[in-house]
Amino acid sequence: MKAKEIRQKFMDFFESKSHKIVPSAPMVIKNDPTLMFTNAGMNQFKDFFLGNKEVKVPRVADTQKCLRVSGKHNDLEEVGIDSYHHTMFEMLGNWSFGDYFKKEAIAWAWELLTEVYGIDKDKLYVTIFEGDHTENLEEDDEATEFWKTWIAPERIIPSNKKDNFWEMGETGPCGPCSEIHVDLRSKEERAKTPGKELVNQDHPLVIEIWNLVFIQYNRKADGSLESLPAKHVDTGMGFERLCMVLQGKTSNYATDVFSGMIAKVEDITSKKYTGSYESSASSDIAMRVIVDHLRAVSFAIADGQLPSNTGAGYVIRRILRRAVRYYFSFLDYQEPLLHQLVPQLSEDFKAVFPELDAQQGLVAKIILEEEKNFLRTLESGLKRLDSIDTSTGIIDGRVAFELYDTFGFPIDLTRLIASEKGFKVDEAGFETALTEQRERSKKDAAKAFGDWNQVIDDNESVFIGYGTLEAVSRVLKYRTVKVKDKDQYQVVLNKTPFYPEGGGQVGDIGLLFFGDEKVPVLDTKRENDLIIHFVKNLPEDITLPVKAVVNKTKRKMTENNHSATHLVHSALREVLGTHVQQKGSLVNDKYLRFDFSHFQKVTEEEIAQIETIVNGKIRENIARQAELVPIEDAKKAGAMMLFGEKYGDTVRMVTFDPEYSVELCGGCHVPQTGVIGLFKIIREESVASGVRRIEALTADGAEAYVNDQAKTLAEIKNLFKNPKNIVNQVSGLQDENKALKRQLEKLNSLQANLAKDKLKNSAEQINGLTFIGKKVDLDSSDAIKKLAFDLRKEYDNLFLVLGAELNGKANLTVALSDNLTSDYNAGQIIRELAKEIQGGGGGQPFFATAGGKKVDGIIHAISKARTILDNNQ
Ligand code: SER
Repeated sequence: MKAKEIRQKFMDFFESKSHKIVPSAPMVIKNDPTLMFTNAGMNQFKDFFLGNKEVKVPRVADTQKCLRVSGKHNDLEEVGIDSYHHTMFEMLGNWSFGDYFKKEAIAWAWELLTEVYGIDKDKLYVTIFEGDHTENLEEDDEATEFWKTWIAPERIIPSNKKDNFWEMGETGPCGPCSEIHVDLRSKEERAKTPGKELVNQDHPLVIEIWNLVFIQYNRKADGSLESLPAKHVDTGMGFERLCMVLQGKTSNYATDVFSGMIAKVEDITSKKYTGSYESSASSDIAMRVIVDHLRAVSFAIADGQLPSNTGAGYVIRRILRRAVRYYFSFLDYQEPLLHQLVPQLSEDFKAVFPELDAQQGLVAKIILEEEKNFLRTLESGLKRLDSIDTSTGIIDGRVAFELYDTFGFPIDLTRLIASEKGFKVDEAGFETALTEQRERSKKDAAKAFGDWNQVIDDNESVFIGYGTLEAVSRVLKYRTVKVKDKDQYQVVLNKTPFYPEGGGQVGDIGLLFFGDEKVPVLDTKRENDLIIHFVKNLPEDITLPVKAVVNKTKRKMTENNHSATHLVHSALREVLGTHVQQKGSLVNDKYLRFDFSHFQKVTEEEIAQIETIVNGKIRENIARQAELVPIEDAKKAGAMMLFGEKYGDTVRMVTFDPEYSVELCGGCHVPQTGVIGLFKIIREESVASGVRRIEALTADGAEAYVNDQAKTLAEIKNLFKNPKNIVNQVSGLQDENKALKRQLEKLNSLQANLAKDKLKNSAEQINGLTFIGKKVDLDSSDAIKKLAFDLRKEYDNLFLVLGAELNGKANLTVALSDNLTSDYNAGQIIRELAKEIQGGGGGQPFFATAGGKKVDGIIHAISKARTILDNNQ
C-alpha cells in the first residue's frame, strides 16, 4: 500500500463513522503563547476541550503536520540516529468533543488496524494508565475492560504516568491514554523474547503506533488538575510509522514517504544509502537527517515562517543548519544541497499538502540563501578553530561555546573537528557556558501565567467591534501574568468592541469604565479563542458592568492602513504579476508594512504605477462589503487566501469591488475607500531572499509626508533662486563640483611638486647624510606624508624633518631612508623633537609624526634635529 492510500483509508474509515474530515492546521502557531509549533493533532482543538468554543461538529478526523523540536515534546537529537523519530511528522487523528468516549475509540482503533489495514493481531499490544497516587489518579480499569473485548488480557500492559498520561504542555487539556504498540520482529526473535517485555523499551522494532488519549482534565498553572465539564477523545497515530508497518519495512526512512528524497540525495552526492543504524554509519545518519530536516524546514517556510534570528524563525534556522553541517561533514558535500531537494519533496506531498507545491520556487530560494550563508559561516568558524591557541591540546569550553553560539556549530561538530586534529574539547566548560546562557534566556523569557479567575459563569468572548466602538459588557475572567518579575493584568469580556491583534492589524487601545473607575486598556490580543485586554490595573470591583470604549482616532487611522493594504496587494499583483503572495503584514495607526514574494527590486516606475492604481481606487470611493460566507463560496469569488492561515468553514470575506480586491480577513476596514484620502509608498527594500517589503502611508500621514517633501523641494528651489528646471540646476552643480575637485587635485599636486623642489634645493650634506629640515606650507597631514614618502624615494641616505602648521597646531614629521634606521630611529627622534612644540608623537623607525600646541617651537625642533645629526659624528 502506498503512503497515499494508507492516508486515504484512514480518512474513509472515520468518515464512515460519521466524522468530518478537516484540513491540517498550519504547523506554525500564531495565537497561543504556550506553543510555538503544532506538536500534536489536538492543538487546533484545544478550545473545544477547554469549553472556550462552542462545538458544532462533535466528531472530526484529519492528518496534521506536527513539529516536535521545542518545549515539552522535542525529538530533534534522536532524528537520524534511529529509524522512527522525526522533527516534522504527520499525525493521523480522530476526535470526539464530548461525544463518544473510550468504548468507541478503542473499538474503532482496533477495527481499523486489524480489519482495514490487516495488521496481524498477534503482533499488537496495548498499554493502559496504571494510576498515580501523587496526583490521586486511579488506574484506568474502564479502558482495560473495553480492551478485553478485543485482545487477550495478558497483552494489556498497565503503564506509568510518564508514558500513559498525555499532556500537551506545562498547562492545558490532558488525560490518561492507552497506546497501541506493534512488534515487527521476526518470528524467531518473537519466540525468543516476548514482545510484551519490549514495549516502551526503545526497541526499534517494538514501537508505539497509536495513542488514544481520553481528555478529562485541565492542568492548571499551579500544577493541579481540574476536571473538565465534558469528556473527549484525542487520538494520534504516527503516519510514517504506520507506513513502515504496512509496507513491511523496518524503518520509516525505508517507506515511500522518504525513499524518493533519499534517492535524490544519493544522486546528488554520489554516496550510497545502506540503511545502517550503526553509530559509525555517518553518511546514512546524515541522509536521514537531511530528508527529515528538509521536510520540516520547507513546510514551516510554506506555512509562512521564514528562518530568522529569534523565536520560531530561529528554531527553523537551527534545523536547517543542522542539516547543512551533516552534509558538509559526512557526505563530503560543500555546496548548497537542500534546496535541490525541494521539487522532489513538493511532488511527494502535493496531493495532501499543496501549499509547498504552490510556493516551490520561493521556498527553494529561501533555503538556498540560508545554506549559502551558513556555509560561509561554517568556513569562518573552521578558520576560527584553526586560529585558536591549542598549545594545551584542549579547546577551551568558552571557545567551543562561541563557535556554537556565534557560528552555529553544534558541539559534536567541534568535537569531530577537534578529534581530527588530535585535540580534546573542554566539555565541562562548554556545558557551563551553555547553562549560563540558558539561564539568562529563561530569565528574559520567563512569563508565569496565573490561572484564570472566573467572574461570571460563561465562556464565550465575542468581538462586536466591526460596527461599534463602544459596548456595555461584563468581565468573564481575569488573570495576572508575571513577566520578568512585573505583574501584567489580563481581562476577558463577554463581548468587546476591542479588536485583538491579528491579520497584521495591531490590537486596539482604549478605556474600560467600571462605574466611575477608569481602567486603561494598553493592548488587545487573541489567545486561541479568547480576546484578552491587557489592562494597566485591575478595577476595585471587577463584577460591575463595564463600559468598553475603544480609542477612536487610533482605530480609524489603523482602518485606513488596513484597507490600503488590501488595495495595494491587488495593485502589486496587477503590476508585478500573480506570483506576488503576501508574506507578512503590519498595520497600525502610523503606517502599513507589507512583505510579499517577488524576486527583484520594485522599480521606481512600478512603484509609481502601483500608487496610481491605489489612489485611483481611493478616488472611486468604493464601498466596503464584509460578509460571512461558506469557504467554498469565497473560493468561487476568487478570494485571496494566505498559506499558513487557518480558515474555518465560514470565513469573513472583505471586498472592495468584486473585480478588484476580495480577501479573507478578520480585520477592520474603512466603510468606503474615499476615507483613505491618499496613499504613498515611502520605502521599498528586501527582507529575505525572494521577499520584498514596502512601507506606505495613508490619509493625514501621507499628506504630511508629501507636504514635507514639497517643502524641502521649495527650500532647494529657493536656494537656486527658483529656476525653471531645478533638476538641471542640481546636476549642473554636481558636474561643476566634480570639475572643481579635479582642478583642485591638480593644483595640489603642482603645489606639492613645487614644495618638493624647494626642499630639494635646501638639502645639506651633513656627516655624509642628506639633511632636509624645513617648515612647509601644506595643509593636510596626508599631503605631508606623501611629500615625505616621495622624497624618501629620491635619496638613499635621507634625514628629513618637516614642520607645518595644521589647523593652528604644530605638526612634525621625521622620515629616514631605510639604510639609516640602524643608526637612527625616527620614533625616538620625534619624541625628543616633540618637546619643542609641547606635544608628543611616535611612529616607526623610518617614519614618525608628532603634534603639539606650540607653533613657534617648530623652528627649534628643526634645529634640534640638526644638532642630533651634528652630535652623531
Ligand atoms: N495528543 C496525543 C499525542 O500527541 C494523541 O493525539 O500523542
